[in-house]
Amino acid sequence: MIKVESIDYKYEDGTLALKNVSIDLDKGKVIGLIGGNGSGKSTLFLNILGILKPSKGKIKYNNEPIKYDKKSLRDYRQKVTMVFQDPDKQLFYSKVYDDMAFPLRNLDIAEDEIKEKVNASLAEVKALDLIEKPTHFLSYGQKKRISIGGALIMDSKVLLLDEPTSGLDPAMSKEVKSIIKNLSQEKRIVVSSHDMDFIYEACDYIYIISKGEILGEGVAEDVFLDKDILEKSGLEKPWLVKIHENLNLPLYKSESELLENRD
Ligand SMILES: Nc1ncnc2c1ncn2[C@@H]1O[C@H](COP(=O)(O)OP(=O)(O)O)[C@@H](O)[C@H]1O
Ligand SMILES: [Mg+2]
Repeated sequence: MIKVESIDYKYEDGTLALKNVSIDLDKGKVIGLIGGNGSGKSTLFLNILGILKPSKGKIKYNNEPIKYDKKSLRDYRQKVTMVFQDPDKQLFYSKVYDDMAFPLRNLDIAEDEIKEKVNASLAEVKALDLIEKPTHFLSYGQKKRISIGGALIMDSKVLLLDEPTSGLDPAMSKEVKSIIKNLSQEKRIVVSSHDMDFIYEACDYIYIISKGEILGEGVAEDVFLDKDILEKSGLEKPWLVKIHENLNLPLYKSESELLENRD
């Protein structure tokens, strides 16, 4: 799968946005990347996707360093897809159906098969009813949903979700959590967020990034019980960890687990 090996990334204006970052996507099924604004999450994703090229270090896919020529990148992006934080960066201004079909049309796939795939991807994100809508009439939450659906169309092995819950209401965030859970059966998922409750419940392995450096990593339960790392990165603890520590309750992984187990 994907390994990020000691990469630096420097923007043209001299900002060193990633410093010696190493990440192994085999560490979990749903990997969380947490860090505050400007910590380097999106920059890291763009490096993993091959849109940006590290100034030092390597990204490897199945033990081979990724190549940056057009053809190699086109092949690579059938295996690794990303949902951008801002859905407007991802959607063109056309009907939902055409928007989703676009990458497949580029591959010369028969329209019948395309139709099937678009329907399946829309069903996965519970947005089949939007298929005929122009994307510019969609609400923000609907756009997010369609952009996640669009990233599924390729049947990729790895899905990068950059702050998938930002700007969503609680019900929609909950749904994104369940979409992630379903998808994790068939592909590796990496989610970035500064929403600790969401990450704690959705992910099994976590990397903490701060000012372009990985401050810590581990299984969710260990990372969120580590006071030093959280303090250093300026992040909040998930509420389930807080009640575990302050009310002497067991450490539950989700609200429903807590409610099922109360006396
Ligand atoms: N195009 C760019 N040019 C220069 N600096 C950038 C650019 N994009 C991001 N940065 C800087 O890189 C750092 C990391 O940004 P980013 O990866 O967007 O963080 P995050 O996604 O965690 O909020 C920040 O200091 C940000 O200001
Ligand atoms: Mg970002």
